[in-house]
Amino acid sequence: MDAVAKGFAKAGLSSARYHLFLCRGPECCAREDGERTWEHIKAEIKAHNLPAMRTKADCLRVCAEGPWLVVYPDGVWYSQVTPERFDRIRREHLEGGVPVAEWVRATQPLGGSRRDPPA
Ligand code: FES
Repeated sequence: MDAVAKGFAKAGLSSARYHLFLCRGPECCAREDGERTWEHIKAEIKAHNLPAMRTKADCLRVCAEGPWLVVYPDGVWYSQVTPERFDRIRREHLEGGVPVAEWVRATQPLGGSRRDPPA
């Protein structure tokens, strides 16, 4: 297996149904809060064998009310994602297929039309 194939295997590309991006701050939240959520997400993906790739980001250009979690292919943007909030997002969205509407700040699946929750 060449290096790229190993990388794809390590990322879980062939079985992924979701790709999660998490901004860990430092502008949208304290970096330590972002890191705590990031470490929790990594552990939960492994513990629950979720078909999800994960990528940490240093900025998703919103820069307020983080940590921000974006779930693709749905294009769902969650703000203020604590480890506790991620547990519910995991259960209801990633395993149940239904986004946690009260925490969704925007939905943009890149190719569809933009849908924001009611104010
Ligand atoms: S630092 Fe998190 S969105 Fe910019």
